[in-house]
Amino acid sequence: MTTPDESTIALPAEVLTAVQGARRVLVLTGAGMSAESGVPTFRDAQSGLWEHFDPSQLATQEAWGEDPPFVWAWYAWRMQLVRDVDPNAGHRALADLAALREVMIVTQNVDDLHERAGSSVTAHVHGRLGELRCADCGAPYTAEVSLPVEPMERIDPPTCPECEGDVRPGVVWFGEMLPDAAVAATDAAIDTLEPGDVALVVGTSGVVYPAAGYPAMARAEGATVIEINPTETEISDMCDHHVRGPAAEVLPALVAGLTG
Ligand code: OAD
Repeated sequence: MTTPDESTIALPAEVLTAVQGARRVLVLTGAGMSAESGVPTFRDAQSGLWEHFDPSQLATQEAWGEDPPFVWAWYAWRMQLVRDVDPNAGHRALADLAALREVMIVTQNVDDLHERAGSSVTAHVHGRLGELRCADCGAPYTAEVSLPVEPMERIDPPTCPECEGDVRPGVVWFGEMLPDAAVAATDAAIDTLEPGDVALVVGTSGVVYPAAGYPAMARAEGATVIEINPTETEISDMCDHHVRGPAAEVLPALVAGLTG
């Protein structure tokens, strides 16, 4: 089991009581979940080559249509960054939680850090970085891609062996639909919630819909909604409880509280 960081996090008693009483725990994660692994959140300032670009403008069909090598270079850099970091204590605590409660993880993150910590993920609602596919014909692309060791401004995307189209990352861009299977799996997970169950909302600013609507959907099923985030967010008001701390400290403290 995860050894809690001896620090400092004081979990409100009602948070522990809620999780103790839950049969199912829905965990909704966003970029803050991976922040302590070293993956910058979306709304953090960009650095280096991309500092003048808003990620919400790079992550679009329009940006890709105008300049695929520029957009591919950004994702290739993110792919190598994610490959080189490790799950943090928060990811590991969620994997441990699955031994104690029925855990369903729905993440907006396109990294694989939950899986690498040992969790099974119900849905990646914004897709996955590593699931490459052809931008033209949609064929999956499974060959190795070479990733830059230093950020580069432009890299030609791989070429689809089926149709010679450009290969794109398997993420959802602004304006695109969420993957049907991920939406269906999320809806089904929320449907299983009953009064007394819990939804943990971890590290999301709650501004990108439909994902930002999932906490309210969980609450409508009777779940107690607990926000874990160092700062207030757009969805704080609808949460029942708040723990104002970083995921890699709060989640281990929560799991330790259940077992201790
Ligand atoms: P954001 O970057 O919008 O928000 C990150 C949230 O994490 C903020 O509320 C931070 O306060 C919080 N945070 C930072 N460090 C944290 C820590 N150590 N522990 C817990 N929380 C922490 O990320 P998302 O809400 O995930 O979409 O962004 C949602 C979507 O917008 C992304 O999935 C992406 C993006 O553009 C697409 O690409 C479609």
